[in-house]
Amino acid sequence: MQLRLFFDIPVLWNHNFPPGPWAWPFVGNMFSFDPAMMHLEFEKCAKKYGNIFAIRLPVANDSQMWVVLNGYKMVKEALVQNGDNFANRPSITLYEDTYTGASKAGAKGVVMSNGYPWTQQRRFALSTLRNFGLGKKSLEPSIQLEAQCLNEAFLSEHAGKPFDPQMLINNAVSNVICCLVFGDRFEYSDDQFQTLLKTLDEIIYLQGGFWGALYNMMPWALRRIPGPHRRIFSGWCEVFSFINFRIQAHMKDNDLSSPRDFIDCFLNEIKKWEHDSKAGFNLENLSACTADLFVAGTETTSTTLYWALLFMINYPEIQAKVQAEIDAVVGSSRQPSVEDRDSMPYTDAVLHEIQRKGNIIPLNVTRVATKDTKIGGYIIPKNTLVLGTLYSVLFDESQWETPHTFNPGHFLDQQGRFRNRDAFLPFSLGKRVCPGEQLAKMELFLFFTSMLQRFTFSSPQGVEPSLDFKKGFTHSPKPYQLCATPR
Ligand code: HEM
Repeated sequence: MQLRLFFDIPVLWNHNFPPGPWAWPFVGNMFSFDPAMMHLEFEKCAKKYGNIFAIRLPVANDSQMWVVLNGYKMVKEALVQNGDNFANRPSITLYEDTYTGASKAGAKGVVMSNGYPWTQQRRFALSTLRNFGLGKKSLEPSIQLEAQCLNEAFLSEHAGKPFDPQMLINNAVSNVICCLVFGDRFEYSDDQFQTLLKTLDEIIYLQGGFWGALYNMMPWALRRIPGPHRRIFSGWCEVFSFINFRIQAHMKDNDLSSPRDFIDCFLNEIKKWEHDSKAGFNLENLSACTADLFVAGTETTSTTLYWALLFMINYPEIQAKVQAEIDAVVGSSRQPSVEDRDSMPYTDAVLHEIQRKGNIIPLNVTRVATKDTKIGGYIIPKNTLVLGTLYSVLFDESQWETPHTFNPGHFLDQQGRFRNRDAFLPFSLGKRVCPGEQLAKMELFLFFTSMLQRFTFSSPQGVEPSLDFKKGFTHSPKPYQLCATPR
């Protein structure tokens, strides 16, 4: 085991392994990069070593070697053309230690499971959420209602005064997935729920940063000593006790004939799969799947909307053009609807550009090679960890005219019509492509247009707006304040 900290045998044998920066014994490249700037550091490495390079980070159980893929063509070659060979997730100690119950049962939700339980759970989650309206018109009224509540909260709690909209947006977005999963929404005045959302924010930040990486490198030491990493575990305990409390309540009043939400459907499924324990339909895995949907459905979309308002206060002329389109197509007497989208190419382009430039999951979620695979002329050995970085795709200089500028024109043709772009991949691609894409797009459109229909957002007087970011697992704006002036 200790030997693996110094050497990775398959790599020593492989003369066709991608090049990369020199790595220290034991710690590898652990201290070569600032975790908060990893995507930018990788950009520099790509310039030096090419669009496929290797680093050594002793943070996963499968291998210490990571291959980083850069740019649209390379990421597509790996995740689509060789999709089957990179469909799996690695085994990460921090994750194993937080999802203990689920991993004991042999499966761990949707995001980190592999093989048979993953296919079963992903299929089940998608079909169940679709039955409850995911990607369909039937879900629209509940998102519109939530958008209305959010606007009312902006108005009643903060009318004209500077405030940080993050927690309200977080709560509103979370309510959409909470309705699908728990069958419930939570009032913005619910202190317990607000505390839970803050906890989630904190653990996602800690997990994706230095302490998360250090824990994965030296779990045997960090398990025994105090430090900020402890907060990751106490935080996950709070999240799981919130979820388990709701599962228990569902078990008491679940009516088999009319399931109300994801939890009810999963409970019904447990009985049907009693003969096949490997599929992962058990109570422990219900907690893990629920946590995955709750976390993935809350954090990503709300971070994108938090970026959206920050871009609007940084580019008031773009905000004014979106508002003019909303006024012309929707007016002020009704709420925007998904059907309006086709008649609103400029707004659509702005939303796409917010996702591109917001770049909320810059490194993507890690995959692991299940077979030796040739990519970009190099051999990636079985068990190597693979990052098909999304930052390198969303800012690929060969794909975007002005990659580092906030430019809705990226998504408009000469006639001002919306045009899609191949390298627009914030939801990734291939076998693990985000299953929440349609839901997220619907939420982004309805929340964004509804907020801009009712308010003009600006930076508080005397404050120069900036686009500063902080990076944990997600790339999110540094906390900021704005004023919401009713229109
Ligand atoms: C703007 C919003 C969102 C963005 C940018 C986003 C992005 C991503 C990305 C990049 C991945 C990793 C894909 C890969 O490994 O190649 C992912 C996975 C996932 N997302 Fe999303 N996501 C968003 C919203 C959502 C929502 C609303 C849900 C809830 C239904 C969701 C559920 C998931 C799940 C369950 C996975 C794991 C899929 C798997 O491993 O098979 N996401 N997402």
